[in-house]
Amino acid sequence: MFALVDATLVRPHPDRLGVEVTPGATLVVEGGRIASIDGPIPADAECIDAAGRLVTPGLVDAHTHAMFLGDRAVEFCRRAAGTSYLELAQAGGGIVATVSPTRAGPSSERVDRTKRRLRRLLSGGVTTVEVKSGYGLSSPSERAMLEELAAIDDADLPRVLPTLMAAHALPPEVGGDAGARAAWVRTVVDELVPEVAARRLAGRVDVFVEQTAYTADEARLIAAAARQHGLALHLHVDQLTAGKGAELAAELGAQAVAHLERTGAEGVAALAARGTVAVLLPTATLAAREPGYAPARKLVEAGVPIALATNLNPGTAPTESTALTFFLAAVGLGLTPEETFWAATRGGAMALGIVDRGLVVPGGPADLVLWNAQDLAHLAYHAGVNHVRTVWREGRRVADRPWADEDCDGAL
Ligand code: NIG
Repeated sequence: MFALVDATLVRPHPDRLGVEVTPGATLVVEGGRIASIDGPIPADAECIDAAGRLVTPGLVDAHTHAMFLGDRAVEFCRRAAGTSYLELAQAGGGIVATVSPTRAGPSSERVDRTKRRLRRLLSGGVTTVEVKSGYGLSSPSERAMLEELAAIDDADLPRVLPTLMAAHALPPEVGGDAGARAAWVRTVVDELVPEVAARRLAGRVDVFVEQTAYTADEARLIAAAARQHGLALHLHVDQLTAGKGAELAAELGAQAVAHLERTGAEGVAALAARGTVAVLLPTATLAAREPGYAPARKLVEAGVPIALATNLNPGTAPTESTALTFFLAAVGLGLTPEETFWAATRGGAMALGIVDRGLVVPGGPADLVLWNAQDLAHLAYHAGVNHVRTVWREGRRVADRPWADEDCDGAL
């Protein structure tokens, strides 16, 4: 049992954008749960003095591709020199460039590399993380990735929620063969989705709808299978080209839809009417050198719930940095510190359909972060610097960065 005293407590609202900030708060944690807020401190509780610093729920990173092998630094340099992400993908690079090293690597290496990335996310304050398959692109390798993700059940890492993304790119074997393409989509629909649902290997299915990936009609087939087998639907849309993807997400009743860089007013209105969560990935917008960020302000004004995620992947978001993501949420998306924080916690939980995370409530799980800063603005403003001091997952101290006290005390 422990008590955090003199905390500046940040409590995201459970069901609407916004946070409540309470200075001088006391939090008692017992048995992995929040026992009380501003109640008496039991005599046997270990007291931790937050000294006015922020105490918040753990971050919920609702969109990552954290399981892969190899890197794409060569493509990164080519993009810096002016070749677009779309051009690289059309020339056989992009996602499929990560498929052969990921398929080839031994399972132990896939797991080891993923765990290292999860550890880095944890030290940035992430206590729950969604991880997609999608660099296997064959039945055996997609299955293997999901089995490996399910096996990463490590109390010292963030909680992992796996997603089936066999429709991330077309398998390299398909080439331009229309029959092979249709056969692969049927494999996803008839084989992978039912098996993954029956074995509970993932809670949702994701599809990349894009000129270089899957069509709206293919997404409709996969969505129908997901619905039939009780899996939630996520989509990647409107990232590289404007494809009316937000309208498609609303039509299909997607739980969450990511990217939206090229979504227009009709797409925003459709999402608002449907209640689909918009997952914002500003790191990818910057790293892929896209011309504009997702219309975050318009989404907020329309009442669309928003989530903010790292999108950790070897192509468009080669970083675990939550600090960089917060910075880009401000300067790229135009979100306030409070909106950013809500989107990175409760918004992420809503995107994943998990009711009890992204909150600080009595009786709720003690996924908590003590930050070495006294106000939310500092987390975005002090660009790219990790301000995490301590992370608890269900009451267990899982990351501790005592040097952060010396490193930065919340002033620049
Ligand atoms: O969300 N757009 C599709 N998937 C990733 C990119 C993955 C990759 O380039 O390897 C994204 O940006």
